[in-house]
Amino acid sequence: MEFKTLSNGIKMPMEGFGVFQVRDKEECKQSVLNAIRAGYRLIDTAASYTNEDAVGEAVREAVAEGICTREELFITSKMWVQDMQNYDTARKAIDSSIKMLGVEYIDLYLLHQAMKDYFSAWRAMEDAYREGKLRAVGVSNFYPFVLTNFCETVDIKPMVNQIETHPYFTQEQSLEVMNHYGVIPEAWAPLGGGRYSPWNDEMLGSIAKNHGKTIGQVILRWNVQRSVVVIPKSVHKERIEENFNIWDFVLTDEEMAKISALDMGYQGTAIKHFDPEFVRMCTNRKIHD
Ligand SMILES: NC(=O)c1ccc[n+]([C@@H]2O[C@H](COP(=O)([O-])OP(=O)(O)OC[C@H]3O[C@@H](n4cnc5c(N)ncnc54)[C@H](OP(=O)(O)O)[C@@H]3O)[C@@H](O)[C@H]2O)c1
Repeated sequence: MEFKTLSNGIKMPMEGFGVFQVRDKEECKQSVLNAIRAGYRLIDTAASYTNEDAVGEAVREAVAEGICTREELFITSKMWVQDMQNYDTARKAIDSSIKMLGVEYIDLYLLHQAMKDYFSAWRAMEDAYREGKLRAVGVSNFYPFVLTNFCETVDIKPMVNQIETHPYFTQEQSLEVMNHYGVIPEAWAPLGGGRYSPWNDEMLGSIAKNHGKTIGQVILRWNVQRSVVVIPKSVHKERIEENFNIWDFVLTDEEMAKISALDMGYQGTAIKHFDPEFVRMCTNRKIHD
């Protein structure tokens, strides 16, 4: 496992485990436990996934079993849009995530989307960070022009930006902007997000065969070799283990270039962030009363 050092000096594992759409609590808890047993130390959840409590249970069980200490884990959660109404609602959301997870602090907390009053929500995050409730703060789905404006405006720059990026949506400009501001890129949907399936791609299959690896391992490796943190999700133990086994091979420059050439730009995205319907769906979605 390799680590990235955030702008505040904190070390973040370069591979983690995502739990988006793992709604069944027991399945979520078992999957997180399987991930921690397999060696993952970063767990990525969100208030909107409504499984922070199951993640917290798995963490407590893993620590009680002696698999790892709480300090070795890097727990990430995200504030949902509903709570980005103003400073006070954002403060409550941070406290709620801490309570749901059953932890004293969260390692990384992200604004889930650049929607509603995200500047006020950020001020609440900055204060919680200064108080030690959050060890690091970041954003998610901040496209280059939004991130640039944000970094030019706020007191504490986001330490991470979690974005959709995989071979079909390489987001090179986003990576350049993040590099400029010292923001660490983290890839959601690192296995492709479902719109374009990598699983039957002949070129990826041949690269995988060259290394004695699977296509999933190759595209996760491609992202980490671009210095992007990855957080694949699976509810299957064997896939959880497979996805973590990417630290013993290196793609050549030529292989990296071939994989990057799959880029389809915005056509390759799983979620259309610039679609007004998507924004309306997010701004109207309630995850609590
Ligand atoms: N910030 C955001 O807006 C945002 C948005 C989306 C996701 N995320 C985060 O990013 C994480 C990952 O993204 P994601 O869950 O959308 O997509 P992903 O990790 O790219 O792909 C997950 C899908 O791939 C399947 N899969 C996993 N490993 C596989 C393997 N080795 N072989 C074949 N299929 C495999 C999974 O099925 P099984 O589970 O059945 O194995 C699941 O259907 C999420 O869980 C979440 O934590 C963040």
